[in-house]
Amino acid sequence: MAKSYKIAVIGGDGTGPEVTAEAVKVMDAAAGKFKFKVEKTYFDFGGERYKRTGETLPDSAAEELKKFDAILLGAIGHPDVKPGILEKGLLLRMRFELDQYINLRPVRLFPGVECPIKGKGPKEIDYCVVRENTGDLYCGAGGFTLKGTPNETAVQTSIYTRFQVDRCLKYAFEYARKFGKKARGIGPENTLALCGKTNVLTFVYDLWERAFHEMGEKHYPDIRRDYYHVDATCMWMIKNPEWFDVIVTGNLFGDIITDLGAITQGGMGIAAGGNINPEGVSMFEPIGGSAPKYTGKGVINPLAAICAMQMMLQTLGEEKAAAKIEQAVRDVTANKLKSLAAGKMGYSTSQVGDMVAEGVV
Ligand code: IPM
Ligand code: MN
Repeated sequence: MAKSYKIAVIGGDGTGPEVTAEAVKVMDAAAGKFKFKVEKTYFDFGGERYKRTGETLPDSAAEELKKFDAILLGAIGHPDVKPGILEKGLLLRMRFELDQYINLRPVRLFPGVECPIKGKGPKEIDYCVVRENTGDLYCGAGGFTLKGTPNETAVQTSIYTRFQVDRCLKYAFEYARKFGKKARGIGPENTLALCGKTNVLTFVYDLWERAFHEMGEKHYPDIRRDYYHVDATCMWMIKNPEWFDVIVTGNLFGDIITDLGAITQGGMGIAAGGNINPEGVSMFEPIGGSAPKYTGKGVINPLAAICAMQMMLQTLGEEKAAAKIEQAVRDVTANKLKSLAAGKMGYSTSQVGDMVAEGVV
């Protein structure tokens, strides 16, 4: 019997629904071709719903979403809603409540895509960041005293438990073993680099570093271990991106370095990520925001959403379909699109979706 997947689709705000529609179009094409079924359920979470109801996410949402095989998310962010409300109340809440403790963000330059780094191409920019997705400064620990007075203080604390660090490292080592450069036949070894700041954050990244080497020595002697401070990581991501294979890091550094990575792979039009709970329900999203000024114009690039959906199928185990979609995206960037930027692609949003879908069947 054909496998069947229940997918929750959250288009979200701004251009989110438009790009998600193209991802769904390609997913349906792949399902037809590779003989699996997808049953989609749409949710209206986002800024519009918040404005209407005053609620970011119903309390029942996490339980509801746990019934799905995966979640496809467009974008969250509304120009009329104060920054922080939707981010915390929706996106981060889903990540936390579904315990999606990995944020997997590949940094890959596809053929035909202009790279802002002189002399670097698809061969050099081909690595992946495993960002821890539940702890660090994102945990919400902190507060004010005497707020609004001249003596006011603000504290915000990074917290990591050994458990959080270990489960993230385990995922990263396993990922490096399976998808590192040696495993993919493009390098002499599989490498996992820890990105930290052990020279200043002498508690949190000391814990990460000890856990990293203990686990590597004991269980992953076949994987080469590197260490970089976060500031140096940023430098080498520009100067020598080919040094990287799989990078593992905490939540905040992961947030920052993946925006840098995204711009080296052609920008927000193409960068995708997965919020992964290896034991539960994962959520896949384009890394870019809701780009409200382009809403409804049919000019936004849907490739990031399509790549997010591709990661979703790969994670669900539909590897052949995922490989075919990746190839179709590569063909489109190599041979069709003039640019990845909104309004400059030479095609409309839905034409780009059509071309990828045609490449899949
Ligand atoms: C991201 C975003 C989010 C984050 C924001 C919107 C809360 O920047 O997914 O990288 O900081 O994780
Ligand atoms: Mn970010």
